[in-house]
Amino acid sequence: MRHEASRIDVQREVVLRTPRLSLTSWRVDDVESLHEVHSDPQTMEFVRNGRPESRPEVEQLVDQYIAEHAARGWTKWRLADFDDQLVGRAGFGGTSESRGLSYLIRRSRWGLGLATEIAEALVGWHLSHTVGVPLRAIVAVGNDASARVLEKVGFDEAGLEDFEGTICRAFMHPESD
Ligand SMILES: CC(C)(COP(=O)(O)OP(=O)(O)OC[C@H]1O[C@@H](n2cnc3c(N)ncnc32)[C@H](O)[C@@H]1OP(=O)(O)O)[C@@H](O)C(=O)NCCC(=O)NCCS
Repeated sequence: MRHEASRIDVQREVVLRTPRLSLTSWRVDDVESLHEVHSDPQTMEFVRNGRPESRPEVEQLVDQYIAEHAARGWTKWRLADFDDQLVGRAGFGGTSESRGLSYLIRRSRWGLGLATEIAEALVGWHLSHTVGVPLRAIVAVGNDASARVLEKVGFDEAGLEDFEGTICRAFMHPESD
């Protein structure tokens, strides 16, 4: 019990701030709020397995994000507003050879320009924390809002590719090439 409490008390590390958002590391007690977001079918339609996720699945994901942040200094971080309400998650997947931009906004906050705001800041973060690693993104065919976000922050479209059985539009950021 003491051990659990001390893990929850861990401070969040701030990765970046934008005019409306803060991007930070995760804590184990974030599972409940992220599960609220990942249990919405419309939000999950074009991400991960294309379906709402269970609490154990989200627990595993938060553990993964905490471990990635600790091991390599980047992951898909916690995105919140200035009242510390969870807005979603954003950051990077990928490897040391290539980073993949990723963002997910909770449905009640769609249409406010928040994905564009954080995507633009993350392109800047990538360019200032990388030497010669390309920045890519893939978007499932049909996810036109996400493709639009990538276009707005300067990505070029680079054809179609199969990602684990899903046909995706591939994008590349020209400045990171
Ligand atoms: C896709 C997503 C990130 C967009 O977030 P958002 O904060 O609403 O995005 P923004 O408001 O910054 O910008 C959305 C843009 O797409 C446009 N758009 C919205 N719905 C659209 C649609 N169905 N078709 C085409 N464009 C659309 C908006 O008009 C806006 O463009 P504009 O500024 O030129 O008008 C959000 O819906 C989401 O998190 N979806 C679930 C997770 C997901 O799909 N993540 C991306 C995985 S690749």
